[in-house]
Amino acid sequence: MSKSGALDLATGVGGKIKKEDVQSAVEQYEKYHVCFGGGEETRKANYSDMVNKYYDLATSFYEFGWGESFHFAPRWKGESLRESIKRHEHFLALQLGLKPGMKVLDVGCGIGGPLREIARFSSTSITGLNNNEYQISRGRELNRAAGSCESCNFVKADFMKMPFPDNSFDGIYAIEATCHAPDAVGSYKEIYRVLKPGQHFAAYEWCMTDHFDPDNESHQKTKAEIELGNGLPDIRTTKQCLDALKLAGFEVISERDLAVDSPVSWYLPLDTSRFSITSFRLTSFGRFITRTMVKTLEFAGIAPAGSNRVSSFLEKAAEGLVEGGRKEIFTPMYFFLVRKPLSES
Ligand SMILES: C[S@@+](CC[C@H](N)C(=O)[O-])C[C@H]1O[C@@H](n2cnc3c(N)ncnc32)[C@H](O)[C@@H]1O
Repeated sequence: MSKSGALDLATGVGGKIKKEDVQSAVEQYEKYHVCFGGGEETRKANYSDMVNKYYDLATSFYEFGWGESFHFAPRWKGESLRESIKRHEHFLALQLGLKPGMKVLDVGCGIGGPLREIARFSSTSITGLNNNEYQISRGRELNRAAGSCESCNFVKADFMKMPFPDNSFDGIYAIEATCHAPDAVGSYKEIYRVLKPGQHFAAYEWCMTDHFDPDNESHQKTKAEIELGNGLPDIRTTKQCLDALKLAGFEVISERDLAVDSPVSWYLPLDTSRFSITSFRLTSFGRFITRTMVKTLEFAGIAPAGSNRVSSFLEKAAEGLVEGGRKEIFTPMYFFLVRKPLSES
């Protein structure tokens, strides 16, 4: 059942973390990040704890504001946010050449929005891999409610060490998920291992673009805000991702930043200077209402202590993302399609 009401948001904050421990989890999470004195090496060494805390804390906000698919999309004029999100998912299915009966892996599947859509669109069986127990339980509930995904399943595991034999899948995709990996080569190598030879892997990566200048303080500030607000150890450049794919052994078939040609900017839904009825909760006024509501529900003891701080770092994230998009130093849609060669050289 969809959990997109205000009470669902409030009672869901913290996911599988005990309600009385939410406040200290928020503090521990914040300390991982530059804005609170944390460092990249600590985030990488503790990526599992950091990312899991992040998604336990943030998932109910995502469901409330964004829906069942936790990703951005390039957008045509006249297209709604929801339509663009679905089209972005269908695009991956088409690029991978998914056909009925294929066995597919969704790496970092969230609560399964893309998995349900792509499985219906392509008549494939999809396994959703996710390291967050709370999201997996939400995914299972939503699959049951949708009643159309009997051939799909969820596996709780770390994508840096997957519990699947070599050469298991006919196609693999990852939507805005491998950006959480502490090491890109390591994550792509693991995907390479479980993919059948001759088959494809397609993804949307979060990346710093060629416009990012590591010596520019304001660029670094924006990058740190995005990392804090989104549970990321370090945002890689598009070039670092491409090099990592090649090092993992993949042949690159195509790659490009889909944000460059998008007629409507991907960050528009988060931009407080615009108004939208269809995604009202993301507008400035909608966010003000959410903030006030979370504060009130926390005060009333319905939302756990610490909820308002989660709301604050998510607001920071939104500001960082809009800044990163406007300056064109960041993209959440660096797309690539790669192939595992038939024989290894
Ligand atoms: C931004 S969400 C995207 C979710 C989903 N792909 C979607 O578009 O709705 C990133 C996802 O990656 C998962 N994730 C992050 N690190 C992971 C890891 N090491 N192993 C497995 N899943 C991971 C998170 O739990 C989360 O579900």
